[in-house]
Amino acid sequence: MKNNLDKKILVVDDESEMRVALETTLKREGYQPVCVEDGKKAWERVQNETFDLIVSDVKMPKMDGVELLRAVKQHSPKTIVIMMTAYGDIDNAVETMKVGAFDYLLKPFSAEILISSVNRAFMKEPEDHRKSTAPAAKPDVKIIPEREIITCNQEMLKLLKFVENIAYSKSTVLIIGETGTGKELFARLIHQCSPRADKPFIAINCAALPEGLLETEMFGHEKGAFTGADYRKEGKFELAHKGTLLLDEVTEMSLPLQAKLLRVLQEHEIDKVGGKESIPVDVRVVATSNRDIKKRIRENKFREDLYYRLNVIPLKINPLRERKEDIPLLAEHFLAMHCKENNKPVMSVDDSTVSLLKKYNWPGNIRELGNIMERAALLCNEDTLLPAHLFFEEDAEMDSDPSSKPLSNFRGTIHQMEKELILQTLEEQNGNKTRAAESLGISIRTLRNKLTEYQSVD
Ligand SMILES: Nc1ncnc2c1ncn2[C@@H]1O[C@H](COP(=O)(O)OP(=O)(O)OP(=O)(O)O)[C@@H](O)[C@H]1O
Ligand SMILES: [Mg+2]
Repeated sequence: MKNNLDKKILVVDDESEMRVALETTLKREGYQPVCVEDGKKAWERVQNETFDLIVSDVKMPKMDGVELLRAVKQHSPKTIVIMMTAYGDIDNAVETMKVGAFDYLLKPFSAEILISSVNRAFMKEPEDHRKSTAPAAKPDVKIIPEREIITCNQEMLKLLKFVENIAYSKSTVLIIGETGTGKELFARLIHQCSPRADKPFIAINCAALPEGLLETEMFGHEKGAFTGADYRKEGKFELAHKGTLLLDEVTEMSLPLQAKLLRVLQEHEIDKVGGKESIPVDVRVVATSNRDIKKRIRENKFREDLYYRLNVIPLKINPLRERKEDIPLLAEHFLAMHCKENNKPVMSVDDSTVSLLKKYNWPGNIRELGNIMERAALLCNEDTLLPAHLFFEEDAEMDSDPSSKPLSNFRGTIHQMEKELILQTLEEQNGNKTRAAESLGISIRTLRNKLTEYQSVD
């Protein structure tokens, strides 16, 4: 039998059967747990002796598990706390992770799940663990964003602060937001701010692959697992070991795969396709979705238990139309970036351009703004960016004042768009180049050069 006597464990549960079950399981693993029946008794013990680990129920008379957790984290932050909870109290349990619980176990759970959680708690290196329980000990985690997150919106700034605070933990993060709002950017930021920053950040898009392929992408396969599997393939979970795994568009995963993922999240080990043994993995999972997850759950397309497993730390990114104060900042940022890429001097953004940008409702959010500014940077050869340089998607909707709509709406390459726009404007102005140039907001010289260019190509 293993000897784990150097680790002191306190078990807290008001149900005697549960205490006996926990005690038996832990004793089998070589621990000698102390068992008490409520938070108050536990708190008395904690003040007089040092425990390495506390396994506590949430709902208890006198002092409940959350109160106990708070008190313990204040008194002896190094003590690891695992919470146990019934399904109905899951929100409460999720809360406890933010207060500093190491893990939570959903009742009823098997002995294996308890032991797996306890072992993980003790396997962590002491330094690592300090970071994950005591927020005071994390000034060594620096924010080195790979790409800046630009915002002056109060809620976004709060979100950035929140990310800084939760980055050091290992808890799963679920990022919700419309397409192009910056979900991946935030996922990378979480990784960069975490103690895992120098380990891999691996992303997988769950919507992009059919079920079978997604499974081998995620978990890998053994050599000979199926016809054509003539080598052993490492899955993304293995590649992300010690680092962060981004599961993009997680709601698009098939139900069988969701079940498999749930198991991985609970047990921290993967089963390769065609593999005989489970492989332990240490991965921080960040998942994203641009869907209404609650609706997917109601439609039985997404497992509710998986949702709760993923949603330990929820992060919601607002669409751009709800933070229009960010538009001028972002527009200038993208414009400068694309001008530099194209070796062009950076132009200023005219006020009329800013007000037009603010009228648009941005269904594609920041990505769409980036694309529009990329085209604008190419199209504009003046020192000021005018509304005429903006091209929105075909059925763009403006909030008001249709007269300020841009000239035309196109799809296609930048070059084609530019050419079409110029020729169309020239036609509208009956071939008058001066008026066409004026209406386009470009110089007559630029217009002539463009026309010569089109002639020589055609
Ligand atoms: N606040 C921001 N500041 C600067 N760039 C941003 C910001 N938010 C998003 N971006 C940029 O916008 C683009 C889209 O962001 P990202 O890929 O993170 O969005 P997403 O929410 O993951 O989109 P999708 O749902 O389509 O996958 C990226 O190029 C990203 O760098
Ligand atoms: Mg994305």
